[in-house]
Amino acid sequence: MAKLGGTTGIPSRPYVGREFRLLEGRMLDSLNEVERNGLDALQKVQDEAALEAWRVTHLGRSSGLMQIFSKFGQLPQADKPVVGQRANEVKKALEAAYDVKSGQMRQAALKRSLEQEQLDVTLPGRRLPLGRLHPDTQTLRELYTIFGEMGFQVFRSREVESDEYNFQLLNFQIGHPARDMQDTYFVEAEGRGENPIVLRTHTSPGQIHAMRWISAMQPDNPPPVRIVLPGMCYRYEQVTNRHETQFDQLEGLAVGPGITFSDLKGTLADFARRMFGQATRTRFRASYFPFTEPSAEFDVECFLCGGKGCSVCKGSGWLEIGGCGMVHPVVLTNGGYDPQRYSGFAFGLGPQRMAMLRHRIEDIRYFWQNDLRFLEQF
Ligand code: DAH
Repeated sequence: MAKLGGTTGIPSRPYVGREFRLLEGRMLDSLNEVERNGLDALQKVQDEAALEAWRVTHLGRSSGLMQIFSKFGQLPQADKPVVGQRANEVKKALEAAYDVKSGQMRQAALKRSLEQEQLDVTLPGRRLPLGRLHPDTQTLRELYTIFGEMGFQVFRSREVESDEYNFQLLNFQIGHPARDMQDTYFVEAEGRGENPIVLRTHTSPGQIHAMRWISAMQPDNPPPVRIVLPGMCYRYEQVTNRHETQFDQLEGLAVGPGITFSDLKGTLADFARRMFGQATRTRFRASYFPFTEPSAEFDVECFLCGGKGCSVCKGSGWLEIGGCGMVHPVVLTNGGYDPQRYSGFAFGLGPQRMAMLRHRIEDIRYFWQNDLRFLEQF
């Protein structure tokens, strides 16, 4: 090993060190150049795009500066501090110059826009689109209000039912022909014998749930019932403009000692006047439902033509609104009410049908198509 330092006290270096000292010198020169070029080029930058291009060229991964950093490892340990410090200085200087420049450019852009663009504070603001309630919900809430004023409470019941509740306890025995009117969707049939799980075809099973729940409070002397049961029903239907596979119903039920058919008539006639106007006339036509006896269809005088006959009432002057009747003794018994001591009436209304008549909506499919052009009209 050749001694270079002699007696000066400077630590001696191997001969090959000369090469590195040259490298160190070249790197310091390059750093000066990188700094000078970068700062000069930045002076000429005029817009955002040029500024971004400058950043990529002078500070990006393949910039001259980064290339120097990548050679850093080749330096001998003793030279690293000098070159490293200088390289960091250059990097900081370029970054600081970049920050100043971009700040200046942002300021200039703001100044320009404030000078050139005008703000008219008298222009109307942009309206936020407001959501609204679905027409079904609106009709149901109107019905709750009316029946609420008449002393009925809202009682909710499940949409997935057993055959027993949907049919059997309502006096539709297995194989009963009236079941044909209510073809349903089966949720689970296997292993359940004569009691498959179905989607409810009407809100009437809620009558049994409600009566059982209320009568269980005082089995010897069950309290009276006065409720409405709203909700979705499902039927396996041929879909047409009048029939959908899902639809709303509002069921009503009143049970107590001494309730008569005239209570039913009075309640529904009063409901029709509150819903369609004080002059509305009503009529009851004999009908059949397994869970009521006697049973009736309930019509209101056509509120669109006042009973003269129009296209909506098909010339008859009357509109069919729902079914009703006196609760069948079997149903009362199934609900925990002794038919010797209690009687009751029930009804089932079609809220969508009422909305259709009122707004002359010609197709029930609109309700669940989620077409804003329809929904926004209500
Ligand atoms: N559940 C019947 C249906 O969906 C409607 C109905 C008729 C309900 C008469 C009643 C009633 O409560 O008394 O076809």
